[in-house]
Amino acid sequence: MVQETQIRASNLIFPLFIVEGDNVRSEVGSMPGIYRYSIDNLLREVESCMELGLRAFDLFPNIDETLKDKYATASTKEGGLYLRAIAAVKARFPEACVITDVAMDPYSSDGHDGIVENGEILNDETLVILGRMAVAHAQAGADIVAPSDMMDGRIGYIRNVLDENGFTNVSLMSYTAKYASAFYGPFRDALNSAPKHGDKKTYQMNPANQREALIEAELDSREGADFLMVKPALAYLDIIKSLNDDFDLPIAAYNVSGEYAMIKASAQNGWIDEQRATMEVLTGIRRAGATAILTYHAKEVLANKWL
Ligand code: PBG
Repeated sequence: MVQETQIRASNLIFPLFIVEGDNVRSEVGSMPGIYRYSIDNLLREVESCMELGLRAFDLFPNIDETLKDKYATASTKEGGLYLRAIAAVKARFPEACVITDVAMDPYSSDGHDGIVENGEILNDETLVILGRMAVAHAQAGADIVAPSDMMDGRIGYIRNVLDENGFTNVSLMSYTAKYASAFYGPFRDALNSAPKHGDKKTYQMNPANQREALIEAELDSREGADFLMVKPALAYLDIIKSLNDDFDLPIAAYNVSGEYAMIKASAQNGWIDEQRATMEVLTGIRRAGATAILTYHAKEVLANKWL
């Protein structure tokens, strides 16, 4: 009666890593309890999550190094790992909400989210690739596409291309305020997607900036975003709150890989109480104003009945 903040299963989105192969389930070293799944095991994992009441999944591909190139061409190839995975999940579980990651980095030989030329990112040329990816994901059955690249103008561009191709019902979850963070390390391990040179500071945001997030949110909402996301979550609760105060779109927050790893590592050492720490973190993110929480804790929270 007096508790102001509640979390429900419907607030949670579970990120899942996919890899080529049969019967693969390989744990990510820096993320205990999180695995890369081949498509057969991905379907088993989605099924067990659905039985727990988890409905929304965000898929990320681990792409073989030999398939990577400057223009991420493997991302839109028919029969590619990612497109097959999306289609397989939607075919088996039509009621699952499949969210897809629109970004070049898992497919890029440079490990960047945009085309690199002479050490610089080509923003507008990258939009064309992102548009193609979004359409390919929609054709495969994606319910929501989530551009995580931080190129300027990509929300409007992708919305147009989706609409032109008849995918007016596919939603856009924009990584609106995505910061250049140290907390993405374990994710880049999982996908082997770290930048080969330089960093992402010319397109991801400076952790020192709050007002800039409002500019990004203004642009994304005018361009047609259906969700505004803040990422990472923990060091950015003020950003979640200010977007929630100033905008009427639903706010998503990404409780990222490094945030997960911190809890797991200290729990494994017996330094903190894992259940309490996990629920405190998720409650804080929800309290700040996020109604969609992308978190690697999603399944364990439900499996252990921590809600
Ligand atoms: C890249 C992308 C990243 C994450 C999601 N999409 C990493 C990056 O920007 O380098 C990180 C998620 C996490 O750390 O859990 N398109």
